Amino acid sequence: MKITKVETSKIDKVDFSNLPFGSVFTDHMVICDYKNGQWSEPYIKPYSELTLQPSARVFHYGQAVFEGMKAYKDSDGKIWMFRPEDNFIRINKSAARLAMPELPKEYFFQSLEALLKLESDWIKPGKGNSLYIRPFMIASDPMIAASPGEEYKFIIICSPAQSYYAGKVKVMIAQKYSRAADGGVGFAKAAGNYASQFYPTNLAKQKGFQQVIWTDANTHQFLEEAGTMNIFFRIGDKLITAPTNDRILDGVTRKSVLQIAQDKGIDCEVRPVKVAEIIEAAENNNLLEVFGTGTAAVISEVSAVGFKDKVYDLPTLDNDYASIIKNAIFEIQYNEADDPYGWRYAVD
Ligand SMILES: Cc1ncc(COP(=O)(O)O)c(C=O)c1O
Repeated sequence: MKITKVETSKIDKVDFSNLPFGSVFTDHMVICDYKNGQWSEPYIKPYSELTLQPSARVFHYGQAVFEGMKAYKDSDGKIWMFRPEDNFIRINKSAARLAMPELPKEYFFQSLEALLKLESDWIKPGKGNSLYIRPFMIASDPMIAASPGEEYKFIIICSPAQSYYAGKVKVMIAQKYSRAADGGVGFAKAAGNYASQFYPTNLAKQKGFQQVIWTDANTHQFLEEAGTMNIFFRIGDKLITAPTNDRILDGVTRKSVLQIAQDKGIDCEVRPVKVAEIIEAAENNNLLEVFGTGTAAVISEVSAVGFKDKVYDLPTLDNDYASIIKNAIFEIQYNEADDPYGWRYAVD
């Protein structure tokens, strides 16, 4: 693979103790171009601006998909990833839904590994430190016809990260706005899914909440996702989450949490979760935990749930499921425990 390195790294100018999420980028990026019906070999070059014509289709029709994954460093300085194959499969599923070409597996992994080795100094050891990896694909050809592009760019950029959310979050159950609908693109990591969340999330923020719990678009009676995370509810000793469908992203963390919870003997149910059931449990003091799951924060605990004009505060527990499961996932990610599932992926 062709690799053009920066003359001088900017790493010395970065304050690793103060890293707002997604604000600092490493020295290099991967680029892979699609033209005339095929992908050309990926290459690595210094992180820099892209040159696209204003007519590039991505600007007009939002043909853009992405992934979010992380690399971790253990105390011996070895680099690991967590279930990257799932991200590869998912970006191609997203691409197919947006009529974009699928990327060959070897290009995804070769370029990812080469980039991570090059950026090794940016991956700091220690739990909570990681390198957030953002692979994405855009339609780049200059043509404003409302039809699928003929040229695309697959790009990978990286951003050093500490944990995403500081502390617990207050979430509000959506009653009017929706994130996804049946037959739509909710299951895909399509850029437009995120743009459409900003306005309702801003409204929730004005009311003192940090995130929205999205409900099904038809009835608003079923709880589906929280912000950009999957969501779990603990009623009594039971852990409940909604099944994935074409409205819900099939989160890598969600399925890892389910597996670990089951193996720890926690009673798990994967089934539609009714708003009424959760409110009733909260009113009876039986709603013990609510947490979101996603690559950025692994598990993000909820302190309070807002519904209509009421706010339901959740208790603070010792030995809560969220902390037990989060710790077990961290130990696998940072190579501090056995990995019976084969989730850890070594970058040698
Ligand atoms: C809408 C949405 N749901 C859930 C998730 C969690 O997915 P994962 O655990 O694969 O990061 C994400 C992404 O992080 C997301 O964007």
